Amino acid sequence: MKNLVSMKDLSVDQIHEILSLAQAFRDGATSTLTNKYTVSNLFFEPSTRTKMSFEMAQRKLNLEVLPFETGFSSTLKGETLYDTVKVLECIGLDVLVIRHEQNNYFEDLVGKVNTAIINGGDGTGNHPTQSLLDIYTIWEEFGTLQDKVITIVGDIAHSRVARSNADALTRLGAKVRFVCPSEWQGEFEALNEFDEVVEDSDVLMMLRVQHERHDGKTAFSKEQYHQMYGLTIERERKMKKDAIIMHPAPFNRDVEIANELIECDRSRIFKQMENGTYVRMAILEMILRGRE
Ligand code: CP
Repeated sequence: MKNLVSMKDLSVDQIHEILSLAQAFRDGATSTLTNKYTVSNLFFEPSTRTKMSFEMAQRKLNLEVLPFETGFSSTLKGETLYDTVKVLECIGLDVLVIRHEQNNYFEDLVGKVNTAIINGGDGTGNHPTQSLLDIYTIWEEFGTLQDKVITIVGDIAHSRVARSNADALTRLGAKVRFVCPSEWQGEFEALNEFDEVVEDSDVLMMLRVQHERHDGKTAFSKEQYHQMYGLTIERERKMKKDAIIMHPAPFNRDVEIANELIECDRSRIFKQMENGTYVRMAILEMILRGRE
C-alpha cells in the first residue's frame, strides 16, 4: 500500500490486515519501522478527531511530525495544492495526511509525487480512515461483518463517510441499507421511512446533518428532522438487544441523535474515536513499511 485515498484502493485481505495490526497496536505492540520518517497533516477543512488522532498515532509510532498551518501557508498567496505538495516532497516529507474541500483532490497528486498521500477527507467524496475505524469498531463488537445489518441514516448525499462505507462494508459481507429524506439521497437507493428498519438492524450508523454543505437551505427544522429521521429514545427502545449505535461525529445533539443516547450503553461513538488512533497507526505503519 503506497497511498490510501479511497476504500477502493484496499482489497478485503488488506482491510483485514489493517484490522489485525490495529488490534496489535491496541494490545501494546510497537512499530517495527527502522528508519526515521517525517510526516505532516494538511487540513484545509476543519477537523478535531481525524487531525488529532493522526497526530497521536504519528507520535506513538515515533514519527517526526512537522506542523503545517493551512491558514499561514502560501496557499493563501495562490499556491496550488500540487505545488504545495511538491515543496513538501522536496523538503523530505514521507507522508502527508490531507483533508481538502475539493472532491478527488488526490487525483492531481497520486503517482506524480513520491510522498505518500493519506486522504483525511475530500469534500463529499471519501473518508477512508473513518471507514476503517468504523469497520474496526463493528468487527471488535461482533467478531465479523458477515451478514450484519448496518443501517446508515441521515444526510447521505453530503456524506463522504457513507460513500466510503457503502462499498467497503458490502465487500466485507454486511447488508448495508440507507435511510434519508429523498432530497438527501444522492446516488444511493434509500428508504425514506426510518421506523421500518430500526428493529432488525445490528448497527444504526447515524450521520451528521451537514448544514455547512446545504447552501443555507435545509428542508426541515431541527425538531422535524429529529422526529422523522433522528434516533429518538422511543426508537432506541425498539432496537435489538445487542445492536449498537454509531456516529462518525461531530454530532448535532437532539437532531440526528437524542442527547441522552450519545453516551448510552449501546453507543460506540466514543469507542470509534478511541479506535481511530490504533487504526491510523496501522495505516501509517503499513505505508511506511513499504518505504523501508
Ligand atoms: N469524524 C470526523 O471526521 O471528525 P473530524 O471532522 O472532527 O475529523
